Amino acid sequence: MNFHVLTLFPEMILQGMNTSIIGRAIANGYLSLEAVNIRDYAFNKHQKVDDYPYGGGAGMLMQAEPVYLAWEAVARRIGRRPRVVYLTPQGSVFNQSMAREMAKEEDLVFLCGHYEGIDERVLEEIVTDYVSIGDYVLTGGELPAMVMMDSVARMVPGVLSNHESGETESFAGNLLEYPQYSRPEEWHGKKVPEVLLSGHHANIEKWRREQSILRTAKRRPDLLKKAELTNKEWNEIRQWKKQQKTDADQE
Ligand code: ADE
Repeated sequence: MNFHVLTLFPEMILQGMNTSIIGRAIANGYLSLEAVNIRDYAFNKHQKVDDYPYGGGAGMLMQAEPVYLAWEAVARRIGRRPRVVYLTPQGSVFNQSMAREMAKEEDLVFLCGHYEGIDERVLEEIVTDYVSIGDYVLTGGELPAMVMMDSVARMVPGVLSNHESGETESFAGNLLEYPQYSRPEEWHGKKVPEVLLSGHHANIEKWRREQSILRTAKRRPDLLKKAELTNKEWNEIRQWKKQQKTDADQE
């Protein structure tokens, strides 16, 4: 996987991505990362990249030409029109299945805006995906690009070692992950659930599945609708909800 980030703050991207698991994957050649400074493609006297919006309004806009030239340089280097993600609160909200799907690409370009955005005309010409990382507004696209690259990268074969496996985890099958425990067996008076100490693998799997479902029902009921549950499991959720209601009524 080759990441190409078009940005006014290349050092932010490079510093943010060159540590920990992603840094290791870059060093080992499973990923490559380049940060292209859009300002290097502003061929005017003061390397200016922004201007006032026509029609008035607050703030400045990034101009079309430097963004286009930065994109063109990348497209030329890789020899085709790449997939280009523009980070914007106006995009589709990013999720795990988008990460999984994007991890299949050979190259991904991330376009980071600043100020009040980017001239619409260049977006029309180069952007393939408009993506938001959530319903809140940030000062620029760099942090969202890093969030996306981190989650896409861990779906790329070789990036995670076996014990860091990306499969049995939150959002697999639209369920959150079950709770986990490590030593000691008792801490602050709280004991590790007995079944996990039993060595009985089938029972452990059963317990973990129940915990995943229960946790999803409690914390992210919106996800449950997309989860593949058996009739028995749906019944258990109904039971649990009924119990919740009884408990609430008694308070
Ligand atoms: N740029 C500013 N806010 C953003 C968000 N929430 N997601 C993606 N890009 C952004």
